[in-house]
Amino acid sequence: MKHFISRIHSNAIVCEGMYEMVFSWDDDAPSPLPGQFCTIRVSNGTTPLLRRPFAFSAFDPNEKTASIVFKKVGASTEILAGKKCGDALDMIGPLGNSFIGFGQTRNNVLVAGGTGFGPVLFWNRFLRHKKISSLMVFGSASKAGIPVFKGHEDEAVALCTEDGSKGFRGTVVDYLRTLPEQMFRETTLYCCGPRGMLKACHDLALERGSACFVSIEQIMACGVGACMGCAVKVTGDESFSRVCTEGPIFNSKTILWT
Ligand code: FES
Repeated sequence: MKHFISRIHSNAIVCEGMYEMVFSWDDDAPSPLPGQFCTIRVSNGTTPLLRRPFAFSAFDPNEKTASIVFKKVGASTEILAGKKCGDALDMIGPLGNSFIGFGQTRNNVLVAGGTGFGPVLFWNRFLRHKKISSLMVFGSASKAGIPVFKGHEDEAVALCTEDGSKGFRGTVVDYLRTLPEQMFRETTLYCCGPRGMLKACHDLALERGSACFVSIEQIMACGVGACMGCAVKVTGDESFSRVCTEGPIFNSKTILWT
């Protein structure tokens, strides 16, 4: 992990309300891995005071650039959306654990909703680069919420929309239920998106006997394990785990979903 000043290379809208930001990565900082995140201080003033966490959506070791995907939903992301090429970013990263090392069975099914698209796309490309087969499934309410990444339009992704305006009509879990049941026996699900989607994926994995790993999104204060502000309830002796340090990737069976 390193604290440094990054420069923005691009900041573009990829679909309704969603942006992809590409920025320089420090030569001395460790390379970000799929599932890891950075924290960004979006303003030099006191509002917003806290740094904001963002999962990486890509890392280019040749160009020394990293990317995030974010949705304009509040004060921090409103400021971030207004940033231009060349602007400075106060950056700490990479932070947290990664998808690497979890599961990787014969069938790898990567499930994303909303801004979960970014980290799951990063993981999908990583697996494909290693010649490990994977299926990526992305869901949104409608066609307007499906990101378009320049130069990556041919990315193989099963698209699901709840209103049926593009791809499969229904949620990602509705789509997964259409896949042959025997396929799930040697399957690992990797999921990133809204909590309801993660819980539904966890329930399906339990029902079908698959392994399931989820990336938990949580509000963070310090981002480095010091404040317990990001703790989530887990099973076992330790009743809480810090998303920023023990996570953000967890075996779905360790999360208390109530
Ligand atoms: Fe402070 Fe995780 S954000 S411990």
